[in-house]
Amino acid sequence: MKFFIDTASLAQIKEAQDLGVLDGVTTNPSLMAKEGISGTDAVMKHYVAICEIVDGDVSAEVIGTAYADMIREGENLAALHPRIVVKLPMTRDGVKAIKYFTGKGIKTNCTLVFSAGQAMLAAKAGATYVSPFIGRLDDISTDGVDLIDQIRTIYDNYGFGTEILAASIRHPMHIIQCAEVGADVATCPLSAITALFDHPLTTIGLEKFLADHKKAAQAVKA
Ligand code: G3P
Repeated sequence: MKFFIDTASLAQIKEAQDLGVLDGVTTNPSLMAKEGISGTDAVMKHYVAICEIVDGDVSAEVIGTAYADMIREGENLAALHPRIVVKLPMTRDGVKAIKYFTGKGIKTNCTLVFSAGQAMLAAKAGATYVSPFIGRLDDISTDGVDLIDQIRTIYDNYGFGTEILAASIRHPMHIIQCAEVGADVATCPLSAITALFDHPLTTIGLEKFLADHKKAAQAVKA
C-alpha cells in the first residue's frame, strides 16, 4: 500500500519525505487555506514547490464546479509538473471532466466519494484514483473501512484499474484497517504515519540492548 501525506504544509511534506516511506501528496482547498496559500499564482507556485520535494504523485484540486472551469483549471494544473494529478469532485461535471482528462492521458483523483456507486462512476470514467473519505463516514456513525472493502470487491470483480486512495484518515488504525481490506493508497496526516513507528516494546527493547552493550564494554575495560 502506498503512503501519501494529506497536507499542504511544506515542512510536513519534507519531514515525511525524509522518513523514506512517502509515495505522494494529496491536498485540498481547505488544506491550502490552512497554510495561508491563496490567489492563483501563489497556489500554482505552492504546487510546484510540493512537486520539487516528493518523488510521487501530487493531487491538486480544481475550485471550479462547472465543467468548462474544471477543464481550464485542470489543464493549467497538469501543465505545472508531470507528477500533478488533477483532483475533481464527485459531481456530474466532475465525472465528465475525469473522462476528458483520462482521454488526454492526464491523471485524475475523484474526491468526495462516500458510496460504492460513486466509486463505480469514477472508475467507469477512468479515474486514476478514487478517494473515499473514511473518517467523515465514521463521523456520522457509518463504517468508512467497510466502504473501502466494498469498493475493493467491486473493482476486483470487474478489473477496474482505478486505485483506491483511502482519504480522511484520522489515526494509525485506519491505515492498518485500510491495508487489511486492500486499499491501494492511504493518504494520511503526518501524525498517523509517525504513530506507526512507535511501540513500547521497541523502546524498552532498544534501551535494554544498549544497556547490555554498555555493560559488556565496561566489563572488557575492567
Ligand atoms: O484530502 C481529503 C481528506 O483526506 C480530508 O480529510 O480529515 O478533512 O476529513 P478530513
